[in-house]
Amino acid sequence: MPELSRARLHALLRALPKAELHIHIEGSLEPELIFRLAQRNGLKLAYPSVQALRAAYAFSDLQSFLDIYYAGASVLRREQDFFDLAWAYFERAAADNVVRAELFFDPQTHTERGVPLQAVITGLTHACRRAHAELGISAKLILCFLRHLSEEAAFATLEQALPYREHFIGVGLDSSEMGHPPEKFARVFARCRELGLHVVAHAGEEGPPAYIWSALDVLKAERIDHGVRCLEDPALVRRLAAERVPLTVCPLSNVKLRVFETLAEHNLPALLDAGLCVTLNSDDPAYFGGYLNDNFIATFDALPQLGTAQAYALARNSFEASFASAADKARWTAELDDCFARLAA
Ligand code: HPA
Ligand code: ZN
Repeated sequence: MPELSRARLHALLRALPKAELHIHIEGSLEPELIFRLAQRNGLKLAYPSVQALRAAYAFSDLQSFLDIYYAGASVLRREQDFFDLAWAYFERAAADNVVRAELFFDPQTHTERGVPLQAVITGLTHACRRAHAELGISAKLILCFLRHLSEEAAFATLEQALPYREHFIGVGLDSSEMGHPPEKFARVFARCRELGLHVVAHAGEEGPPAYIWSALDVLKAERIDHGVRCLEDPALVRRLAAERVPLTVCPLSNVKLRVFETLAEHNLPALLDAGLCVTLNSDDPAYFGGYLNDNFIATFDALPQLGTAQAYALARNSFEASFASAADKARWTAELDDCFARLAA
Protein backbone atom coordinates (compact mmCIF):
# COMPACT_ATOMS: atom_id res chain seq x y z
CA MET A 1 0.00 0.00 0.00
CA PRO A 2 1.30 3.51 -0.80
CA GLU A 3 2.38 5.73 2.08
CA LEU A 4 0.32 8.89 2.44
CA SER A 5 1.13 12.39 3.67
CA ARG A 6 0.43 12.94 7.38
CA ALA A 7 -2.73 14.91 6.57
CA ARG A 8 -4.04 12.17 4.27
CA LEU A 9 -3.15 9.46 6.79
CA HIS A 10 -5.09 11.35 9.48
CA ALA A 11 -8.07 11.69 7.15
CA LEU A 12 -7.93 7.96 6.43
CA LEU A 13 -7.68 7.02 10.12
CA ARG A 14 -10.67 9.21 10.97
CA ALA A 15 -12.77 7.86 8.10
CA LEU A 16 -12.07 4.16 8.60
CA PRO A 17 -15.16 2.23 9.63
CA LYS A 18 -14.18 0.48 12.85
CA ALA A 19 -15.38 -1.54 15.82
CA GLU A 20 -14.65 -0.54 19.40
CA LEU A 21 -14.39 -3.62 21.63
CA HIS A 22 -12.82 -2.27 24.82
CA ILE A 23 -14.75 0.66 26.20
CA HIS A 24 -15.98 0.81 29.81
CA ILE A 25 -19.13 2.85 29.49
CA GLU A 26 -18.60 4.31 32.98
CA GLY A 27 -15.18 5.43 31.71
CA SER A 28 -16.87 7.64 29.10
CA LEU A 29 -18.46 9.74 31.86
CA GLU A 30 -17.13 13.24 31.15
CA PRO A 31 -16.65 15.72 34.03
CA GLU A 32 -19.37 17.98 32.60
CA LEU A 33 -21.89 15.11 32.76
CA ILE A 34 -20.70 14.18 36.28
CA PHE A 35 -21.61 17.72 37.39
CA ARG A 36 -24.93 17.70 35.51
CA LEU A 37 -25.96 14.34 37.02
CA ALA A 38 -24.83 15.36 40.52
CA GLN A 39 -27.06 18.42 40.29
CA ARG A 40 -30.00 16.45 38.85
CA ASN A 41 -29.69 13.84 41.64
CA GLY A 42 -29.09 16.34 44.45
CA LEU A 43 -25.56 15.09 45.20
CA LYS A 44 -22.62 17.07 46.49
CA LEU A 45 -19.27 16.48 44.79
CA ALA A 46 -15.86 16.62 46.45
CA TYR A 47 -14.64 18.99 43.69
CA PRO A 48 -15.81 22.61 43.29
CA SER A 49 -15.68 22.69 39.47
CA VAL A 50 -15.28 20.71 36.26
CA GLN A 51 -11.73 22.09 35.98
CA ALA A 52 -10.84 20.98 39.52
CA LEU A 53 -12.21 17.51 38.84
CA ARG A 54 -10.32 17.21 35.56
CA ALA A 55 -7.15 18.36 37.32
CA ALA A 56 -7.44 15.33 39.64
CA TYR A 57 -7.04 13.01 36.63
CA ALA A 58 -3.32 12.39 37.17
CA PHE A 59 -2.71 8.69 37.66
CA SER A 60 0.34 6.71 38.70
CA ASP A 61 -1.06 3.21 38.05
CA LEU A 62 -4.30 1.28 37.55
CA GLN A 63 -5.44 1.52 41.18
CA SER A 64 -4.99 5.30 41.39
CA PHE A 65 -7.26 5.57 38.34
CA LEU A 66 -9.86 3.11 39.63
CA ASP A 67 -10.31 5.10 42.85
CA ILE A 68 -11.33 8.20 40.84
CA TYR A 69 -13.30 6.20 38.28
CA TYR A 70 -15.52 4.58 40.93
CA ALA A 71 -16.01 7.96 42.66
CA GLY A 72 -17.10 9.50 39.32
CA ALA A 73 -19.55 6.67 38.65
CA SER A 74 -21.30 7.34 41.97
CA VAL A 75 -23.42 10.11 40.37
CA LEU A 76 -25.17 7.48 38.20
CA ARG A 77 -28.41 6.66 39.99
CA ARG A 78 -31.40 6.38 37.65
CA GLU A 79 -32.23 4.69 34.38
CA GLN A 80 -32.12 8.06 32.60
CA ASP A 81 -28.56 8.64 33.89
CA PHE A 82 -27.37 5.40 32.29
CA PHE A 83 -29.16 6.27 29.06
CA ASP A 84 -27.59 9.75 28.97
CA LEU A 85 -24.14 8.29 29.70
CA ALA A 86 -24.28 5.77 26.85
CA TRP A 87 -25.96 8.15 24.42
CA ALA A 88 -23.16 10.70 24.90
CA TYR A 89 -20.66 7.94 24.08
CA PHE A 90 -22.57 6.85 20.96
CA GLU A 91 -22.66 10.40 19.59
CA ARG A 92 -18.88 10.57 19.92
CA ALA A 93 -18.46 7.07 18.50
CA ALA A 94 -20.57 7.94 15.44
CA ALA A 95 -18.32 10.96 14.81
CA ASP A 96 -15.34 8.56 14.86
CA ASN A 97 -17.01 6.23 12.31
CA VAL A 98 -17.50 3.44 14.84
CA VAL A 99 -20.00 1.03 13.26
CA ARG A 100 -19.91 -1.58 16.02
CA ALA A 101 -19.43 -1.06 19.77
CA GLU A 102 -19.28 -3.73 22.46
CA LEU A 103 -19.67 -1.84 25.74
CA PHE A 104 -18.39 -3.05 29.09
CA PHE A 105 -20.47 -2.14 32.11
CA ASP A 106 -19.74 -2.79 35.79
CA PRO A 107 -23.00 -3.73 37.58
CA GLN A 108 -21.34 -4.17 40.97
CA THR A 109 -20.16 -0.55 40.97
CA HIS A 110 -23.83 0.43 41.00
CA THR A 111 -25.61 -2.36 42.87
CA GLU A 112 -23.19 -1.95 45.80
CA ARG A 113 -24.56 1.62 46.11
CA GLY A 114 -28.16 0.41 46.07
CA VAL A 115 -28.88 1.21 42.41
CA PRO A 116 -31.20 -1.46 40.95
CA LEU A 117 -29.60 -3.54 38.20
CA GLN A 118 -32.82 -3.00 36.23
CA ALA A 119 -32.07 0.76 36.00
CA VAL A 120 -28.52 0.10 34.78
CA ILE A 121 -29.40 -2.46 32.11
CA THR A 122 -32.60 -0.80 30.90
CA GLY A 123 -30.96 2.62 30.51
CA LEU A 124 -27.99 1.18 28.63
CA THR A 125 -30.18 -1.06 26.47
CA HIS A 126 -32.39 1.85 25.37
CA ALA A 127 -29.29 3.81 24.35
CA CYS A 128 -27.99 0.80 22.36
CA ARG A 129 -31.31 0.49 20.51
CA ARG A 130 -31.40 4.18 19.70
CA ALA A 131 -27.76 4.10 18.56
CA HIS A 132 -28.69 1.43 16.07
CA ALA A 133 -31.85 3.17 14.87
CA GLU A 134 -30.51 6.73 14.64
CA LEU A 135 -26.74 6.43 14.24
CA GLY A 136 -26.42 3.09 12.46
CA ILE A 137 -24.14 1.73 15.21
CA SER A 138 -24.54 -1.94 16.07
CA ALA A 139 -24.18 -1.85 19.87
CA LYS A 140 -24.07 -4.64 22.44
CA LEU A 141 -23.35 -4.94 26.17
CA ILE A 142 -20.78 -7.06 28.01
CA LEU A 143 -21.26 -7.43 31.76
CA CYS A 144 -17.99 -7.21 33.72
CA PHE A 145 -17.27 -8.70 37.10
CA LEU A 146 -15.05 -6.69 39.44
CA ARG A 147 -12.06 -8.90 40.16
CA HIS A 148 -11.18 -7.23 43.47
CA LEU A 149 -14.48 -8.65 44.80
CA SER A 150 -15.10 -12.35 45.48
CA GLU A 151 -16.24 -15.06 43.09
CA GLU A 152 -19.29 -15.42 45.33
CA ALA A 153 -20.16 -11.76 44.64
CA ALA A 154 -19.72 -12.40 40.91
CA PHE A 155 -22.11 -15.38 41.14
CA ALA A 156 -24.67 -13.20 42.96
CA THR A 157 -24.34 -10.54 40.24
CA LEU A 158 -24.84 -13.14 37.50
CA GLU A 159 -27.94 -14.41 39.29
CA GLN A 160 -29.39 -10.87 39.49
CA ALA A 161 -28.61 -10.30 35.82
CA LEU A 162 -30.26 -13.47 34.49
CA PRO A 163 -33.71 -11.87 34.10
CA TYR A 164 -31.98 -9.52 31.60
CA ARG A 165 -30.05 -12.31 29.86
CA GLU A 166 -31.11 -11.22 26.36
CA HIS A 167 -29.71 -7.72 26.94
CA PHE A 168 -26.03 -8.68 27.13
CA ILE A 169 -23.91 -10.87 24.88
CA GLY A 170 -21.03 -11.75 27.18
CA VAL A 171 -19.09 -11.29 30.37
CA GLY A 172 -15.71 -9.78 31.15
CA LEU A 173 -13.36 -9.29 34.08
CA ASP A 174 -12.01 -5.88 35.10
CA SER A 175 -10.77 -3.71 38.01
CA SER A 176 -7.55 -4.28 40.03
CA GLU A 177 -5.52 -6.94 38.27
CA MET A 178 -2.55 -7.65 40.55
CA GLY A 179 -3.34 -10.30 43.18
CA HIS A 180 -6.62 -11.21 41.44
CA PRO A 181 -5.70 -13.78 38.78
CA PRO A 182 -8.31 -15.04 36.32
CA GLU A 183 -8.50 -18.48 37.98
CA LYS A 184 -10.20 -16.83 40.99
CA PHE A 185 -13.29 -16.73 38.71
CA ALA A 186 -13.02 -20.21 37.15
CA ARG A 187 -16.43 -21.48 38.27
CA VAL A 188 -18.47 -18.39 37.52
CA PHE A 189 -16.98 -18.16 34.02
CA ALA A 190 -17.74 -21.86 33.45
CA ARG A 191 -21.36 -21.13 34.34
CA CYS A 192 -21.41 -18.14 31.98
CA ARG A 193 -20.13 -20.31 29.13
CA GLU A 194 -22.88 -22.85 29.84
CA LEU A 195 -25.36 -20.00 29.52
CA GLY A 196 -24.02 -19.32 26.03
CA LEU A 197 -22.37 -16.04 26.95
CA HIS A 198 -19.21 -14.85 25.23
CA VAL A 199 -16.24 -14.63 27.56
CA VAL A 200 -13.44 -12.02 27.63
CA ALA A 201 -11.03 -10.92 30.37
CA HIS A 202 -8.59 -8.15 31.15
CA ALA A 203 -5.15 -9.74 31.48
CA GLY A 204 -1.56 -8.67 30.99
CA GLU A 205 -2.19 -4.93 31.46
CA GLU A 206 -0.31 -4.73 34.77
CA GLY A 207 -0.41 -8.45 35.48
CA PRO A 208 2.14 -10.98 34.19
CA PRO A 209 1.88 -13.29 31.14
CA ALA A 210 0.73 -16.06 33.53
CA TYR A 211 -2.58 -14.19 33.86
CA ILE A 212 -3.03 -14.30 30.07
CA TRP A 213 -2.36 -18.06 30.07
CA SER A 214 -4.97 -18.62 32.78
CA ALA A 215 -7.49 -16.30 31.08
CA LEU A 216 -7.14 -18.58 28.02
CA ASP A 217 -6.84 -21.98 29.70
CA VAL A 218 -9.06 -21.58 32.76
CA LEU A 219 -11.64 -18.96 31.73
CA LYS A 220 -11.50 -19.89 28.00
CA ALA A 221 -11.45 -16.20 27.14
CA GLU A 222 -12.22 -15.52 23.48
CA ARG A 223 -10.39 -12.16 23.58
CA ILE A 224 -7.79 -10.70 25.91
CA ASP A 225 -8.34 -7.10 27.00
CA HIS A 226 -4.99 -5.27 26.92
CA GLY A 227 -2.64 -8.29 26.86
CA VAL A 228 0.35 -6.08 26.04
CA ARG A 229 2.64 -7.94 28.46
CA CYS A 230 2.34 -11.11 26.30
CA LEU A 231 5.56 -10.12 24.52
CA GLU A 232 7.51 -11.15 27.62
CA ASP A 233 6.64 -14.79 26.82
CA PRO A 234 7.46 -16.05 23.30
CA ALA A 235 5.48 -19.30 23.76
CA LEU A 236 2.43 -17.23 24.69
CA VAL A 237 2.85 -15.03 21.62
CA ARG A 238 3.00 -18.16 19.43
CA ARG A 239 -0.23 -19.44 21.01
CA LEU A 240 -2.06 -16.11 20.61
CA ALA A 241 -0.93 -15.83 16.99
CA ALA A 242 -1.73 -19.45 16.09
CA GLU A 243 -5.25 -19.24 17.57
CA ARG A 244 -5.79 -15.65 16.42
CA VAL A 245 -6.89 -14.65 19.91
CA PRO A 246 -7.62 -10.92 19.65
CA LEU A 247 -5.96 -8.38 21.94
CA THR A 248 -7.93 -5.19 22.62
CA VAL A 249 -5.10 -2.71 23.05
CA CYS A 250 -5.67 0.78 24.49
CA PRO A 251 -2.61 3.00 23.86
CA LEU A 252 -3.67 6.26 25.56
CA SER A 253 -4.82 4.28 28.60
CA ASN A 254 -1.47 2.47 28.76
CA VAL A 255 0.43 5.75 28.86
CA LYS A 256 -1.89 7.39 31.43
CA LEU A 257 -1.59 4.34 33.71
CA ARG A 258 2.17 4.11 33.12
CA VAL A 259 2.21 0.71 31.46
CA PHE A 260 4.43 2.54 28.93
CA GLU A 261 6.07 5.85 29.76
CA THR A 262 5.35 7.34 26.31
CA LEU A 263 3.36 6.40 23.22
CA ALA A 264 6.62 6.24 21.28
CA GLU A 265 7.64 3.33 23.55
CA HIS A 266 4.36 1.43 23.09
CA ASN A 267 4.78 -2.13 21.83
CA LEU A 268 1.91 -1.95 19.31
CA PRO A 269 4.26 -2.25 16.29
CA ALA A 270 5.88 -5.34 17.82
CA LEU A 271 2.48 -6.89 18.56
CA LEU A 272 1.45 -6.37 14.92
CA ASP A 273 4.80 -7.66 13.63
CA ALA A 274 4.29 -10.81 15.73
CA GLY A 275 1.18 -11.51 13.64
CA LEU A 276 -1.30 -10.96 16.48
CA CYS A 277 -4.92 -9.97 15.95
CA VAL A 278 -4.54 -6.55 17.58
CA THR A 279 -7.33 -3.96 17.81
CA LEU A 280 -7.22 -0.33 19.03
CA ASN A 281 -9.63 0.93 21.68
CA SER A 282 -10.18 3.83 24.08
CA ASP A 283 -10.78 1.95 27.40
CA ASP A 284 -11.95 4.94 29.52
CA PRO A 285 -11.93 7.88 27.11
CA ALA A 286 -13.17 10.54 29.56
CA TYR A 287 -10.19 9.82 31.82
CA PHE A 288 -7.40 8.97 29.39
CA GLY A 289 -7.44 11.89 26.97
CA GLY A 290 -9.43 10.70 24.03
CA TYR A 291 -11.94 8.63 22.13
CA LEU A 292 -11.16 6.06 19.46
CA ASN A 293 -9.93 8.36 16.68
CA ASP A 294 -7.78 10.25 19.20
CA ASN A 295 -6.14 6.90 20.01
CA PHE A 296 -5.55 6.12 16.33
CA ILE A 297 -4.10 9.53 15.51
CA ALA A 298 -1.91 9.96 18.59
CA THR A 299 -0.55 6.42 18.23
CA PHE A 300 0.21 6.70 14.51
CA ASP A 301 1.84 10.11 15.10
CA ALA A 302 4.06 8.74 17.86
CA LEU A 303 5.09 5.58 16.01
CA PRO A 304 6.41 6.28 12.50
CA GLN A 305 6.54 2.53 11.75
CA LEU A 306 2.74 2.63 11.54
CA GLY A 307 1.22 3.45 8.14
CA THR A 308 -1.61 2.48 5.83
CA ALA A 309 -1.01 -1.28 6.06
CA GLN A 310 -1.28 -1.18 9.85
CA ALA A 311 -4.36 1.08 9.68
CA TYR A 312 -6.05 -1.49 7.45
CA ALA A 313 -5.03 -4.38 9.70
CA LEU A 314 -6.30 -2.71 12.88
CA ALA A 315 -9.70 -1.87 11.39
CA ARG A 316 -10.03 -5.28 9.74
CA ASN A 317 -9.03 -7.03 12.99
CA SER A 318 -11.66 -5.04 14.92
CA PHE A 319 -14.40 -6.61 12.80
CA GLU A 320 -12.86 -10.09 12.91
CA ALA A 321 -12.54 -9.84 16.72
CA SER A 322 -16.09 -8.63 17.30
CA PHE A 323 -18.96 -10.88 18.31
CA ALA A 324 -21.09 -9.69 15.40
CA SER A 325 -22.60 -12.00 12.78
CA ALA A 326 -20.53 -13.18 9.83
CA ALA A 327 -22.82 -11.16 7.53
CA ASP A 328 -22.22 -7.92 9.48
CA LYS A 329 -18.46 -8.55 9.55
CA ALA A 330 -18.41 -9.10 5.78
CA ARG A 331 -20.44 -5.91 5.18
CA TRP A 332 -18.19 -3.74 7.37
CA THR A 333 -15.06 -5.23 5.81
CA ALA A 334 -16.42 -4.35 2.35
CA GLU A 335 -17.03 -0.79 3.61
CA LEU A 336 -13.46 -0.71 4.86
CA ASP A 337 -12.22 -1.78 1.42
CA ASP A 338 -14.29 1.01 -0.19
CA CYS A 339 -12.86 3.52 2.25
CA PHE A 340 -9.33 2.43 1.35
CA ALA A 341 -10.07 2.60 -2.36
CA ARG A 342 -11.26 6.19 -1.93
CA LEU A 343 -8.70 7.54 0.52
CA ALA A 344 -5.57 5.44 0.27
CA ALA A 345 -5.25 4.77 -3.45
N1 HPA B 1 -8.33 -2.07 33.65
C1 HPA B 1 -9.02 -2.69 34.62
N2 HPA B 1 -10.20 -2.30 35.02
C2 HPA B 1 -10.77 -1.24 34.45
C3 HPA B 1 -10.11 -0.55 33.46
C4 HPA B 1 -8.84 -1.00 33.03
O1 HPA B 1 -8.17 -0.44 32.14
N3 HPA B 1 -10.94 0.47 33.09
C5 HPA B 1 -12.05 0.36 33.84
N4 HPA B 1 -11.96 -0.67 34.67
ZN1 ZN C 1 -10.33 -1.82 30.38
